[in-house]
Amino acid sequence: MEKLIINGGKRLEGIVEINGAKNAAVAILPAAVLINGKCTIENLPNISDIKLCCQILESIGAKIRYISPSSIEIDSTNINKTDISPEITRKFRASYYFIGSLLSRFHRAQVGSPGGCNLGTRPIDQHIKAFEALGAKVDCEGGLITADGRHMQGGHIYLDIVSVGATINAILAATLCEGVTEIENVAKEPHVVDVANFLNMMGANIRGAGTDLIKITGVKELKGGPSYAIVPDQIEAGTYMIAAAVTKGDITIKNCITKHLDPITAKLREMGVTVEENDDGDAIRVYCKTRTKKASVKTMPYPGFPTDMQPQFGVLLSLSEGTSYITEGIWDSRFQYTAELNKMGANINAEGKRAVFEGVDYLTGSQVYATDLRAGAALILAGLVAKGTTEVLGIEHVDRGYEHIEKKFQALGADIRRVSE
Ligand code: EPU
Repeated sequence: MEKLIINGGKRLEGIVEINGAKNAAVAILPAAVLINGKCTIENLPNISDIKLCCQILESIGAKIRYISPSSIEIDSTNINKTDISPEITRKFRASYYFIGSLLSRFHRAQVGSPGGCNLGTRPIDQHIKAFEALGAKVDCEGGLITADGRHMQGGHIYLDIVSVGATINAILAATLCEGVTEIENVAKEPHVVDVANFLNMMGANIRGAGTDLIKITGVKELKGGPSYAIVPDQIEAGTYMIAAAVTKGDITIKNCITKHLDPITAKLREMGVTVEENDDGDAIRVYCKTRTKKASVKTMPYPGFPTDMQPQFGVLLSLSEGTSYITEGIWDSRFQYTAELNKMGANINAEGKRAVFEGVDYLTGSQVYATDLRAGAALILAGLVAKGTTEVLGIEHVDRGYEHIEKKFQALGADIRRVSE
């Protein structure tokens, strides 16, 4: 078991480079199953969820050539299995994308139920609704999702809930379906657009990703195409933006798409943080000299304020002047980190989907436990600003989504190190 030890109170300064987006990459690797040939994927984050995706690809017969730490070639020509065991699927959420891609190409999938962060109930009814709207028969029993897609064809899908996962799974399933599929009430996150861009580059015909309506004209086969670079990680960039604001530092974040950061930028500016975007829209400088002001945050699907930045913002609000509020609009249970922050001296009262933050003057180092990925990021931020030493346990959650997090913070001047217990 590993943990992070942080001696807080250092002002963070310097440049940090952002990696490819976890939530795009974990969908694009399963999307490679659709290709009857090879593809090369670049700007892959070096995180544990990507290793799991690669293990699954190899277990079903794909060949992977590791070109560099951030780039791989996948040859899906000889995939010969459509079964994926629950032992691996329950280790992360995005394993459910293999259902959509196997169904599309092989008309059959038997995939274990997905795992992932515990953020409350995480049903997959909308994924199943989408597969069924395309004519698939889906059965969920004994921890296995079995889908028969022999009679699949294009169709009309209306999602009851705006869901990133269901939108991407519907795209994957429809890409090789005969006829036209329309998907309404879809998620518009940058990673949804990235999956569609990847598939189009490989020969698919997907229009409208990033809008409310996605139209897919099924193609017979994807043959592969030029190498594809994953979009930069909006949430990783946002996490370093908060690091600058909370430590009263000055950080320039490179290899990001500033447009994707708009909801975070707007909220930080409202709180008195200076955010400067470069003209090319691919770097952002964040600095802050005074105590931040109170704010109200409500998480919503993109382009609303991202739920995956909620815990990190919670740290900033804990230390801001006055009373702040967060309303969680996506997940039932995303305030577990607040109990850990309270151990460090924060004054947060969380009930259901709403939390009230009474700003305190400082946090004090403590031993805290990361219950999920973004909770872990938030506790690291809290440790960086706290007086004294913080030990963050449960960092395997953080390693699922942040590449070399302690090394990046060390380069910005933090006193943080990883130790094995
Ligand atoms: N929902 C349903 N039925 C479904 C699917 C979703 O009721 O069939 C509900 C969920 O319970 C939730 C809401 O719809 O209340 C939105 O869920 P969504 O499907 O959009 O979430 P997801 O696809 O499971 C992805 C990210 C999450 C991120 C959410 C929301 C991946 C692998 N995960 O999850 O990322 O919070 O979208 O933006 O893409 C993270 O990176 O820390 C993380 C949790």
